[in-house]
Amino acid sequence: MIPLFQQYSSLKVDLPYIPLGTFPTPLLALNELVKEGTLGSLHLKLDGFSSSPFGGNKVRKLEFLLGKAKQNGAKTIFTFGYEGSNHCVATASLAARLGLNVFAQVLEQEPQPYVRKNVQMAKKMGAVVNLYQSEFGLRLGTAALYVREKLSGNRPMLIPPGGSEALGVMGFVNAALELQSQLERCQLPVPDRIYCAISSGGTTAGLRLGMDLLGWKTELHAVRVYGTANSTRKKLEQLTRKSHDLLKSKGLRLQRMQRLVIRDEFIGQGYAFSTKGGLEAQKRMEARGIALDPTYTAKAYACLLADLRAGELKSKQVLFWNSLNQDQTKPIEGLIY
Ligand SMILES: Cc1ncc(COP(=O)(O)O)c(C=O)c1O
Repeated sequence: MIPLFQQYSSLKVDLPYIPLGTFPTPLLALNELVKEGTLGSLHLKLDGFSSSPFGGNKVRKLEFLLGKAKQNGAKTIFTFGYEGSNHCVATASLAARLGLNVFAQVLEQEPQPYVRKNVQMAKKMGAVVNLYQSEFGLRLGTAALYVREKLSGNRPMLIPPGGSEALGVMGFVNAALELQSQLERCQLPVPDRIYCAISSGGTTAGLRLGMDLLGWKTELHAVRVYGTANSTRKKLEQLTRKSHDLLKSKGLRLQRMQRLVIRDEFIGQGYAFSTKGGLEAQKRMEARGIALDPTYTAKAYACLLADLRAGELKSKQVLFWNSLNQDQTKPIEGLIY
């Protein structure tokens, strides 16, 4: 049973949930940087191993959201993102297992090599991928398809971009509790800092609330990959509040303990554009057999490396949340489960 339900049985009764992933995801100690004396410890949380053939951070949210879809008798899922959206591939993959149809309604983006690969994979898993040139076109196209599916009796359900609504966020509240029990089991310290990429915000919101439940005073550095600081913060605060309300409605009490720092120095030219720091981050991780992508995780790890160079992480216990799907055919040495 997942730690969230073990520790809060009221949630197990009340929240829709279907186990679809492989948890806990592994931890990996990166000792090279520690040997250089630049930080206390560095661990990676490898959510890329959350599912096969396509893992990553979205699996945690989809266990709850697709649980709701099944509970409601939905036969069709509409979800959204940019063309190369990892979220759309993860949804296509897990929904197919449950016999659900998926419409991935996507917007054009910078054509990184992974974009085509993700589109092909989503299609191979049975999703219909509809590409739009504008947000307006996407809304119109979705409305027409939605009505068609509804009239056909398929009880369509909408999953927002990145699966970031209060119910999906529960996946990352659980992720924080999962990390806590893993650290305790392995006798590892509570992180002083966690780094992750932020886009639709569900990962960050869930980790924040989970850390508040745990009473962790960790600093969470959420590295932006597009948009303005104001819009990211506003959206994130709304999502965090709604997710907090959901927990409160089930009788959970939590106090703000963690500290959130939104980082916006690593976006570069914009969403999905490579950056110099990101390319260096990718290269360094590749040497350890770990994949990072130019859009999200390379920018987040570039932020960590920049802080390291600035001497900000001296003697700190640091954790990097790698939210990217990983190639499961390549063994990685030194995984701590
Ligand atoms: C690999 C990867 N990392 C991080 C994120 C950001 O997570 P969130 O949307 O929960 O903020 C995404 C979102 O699409 C992603 O695909």
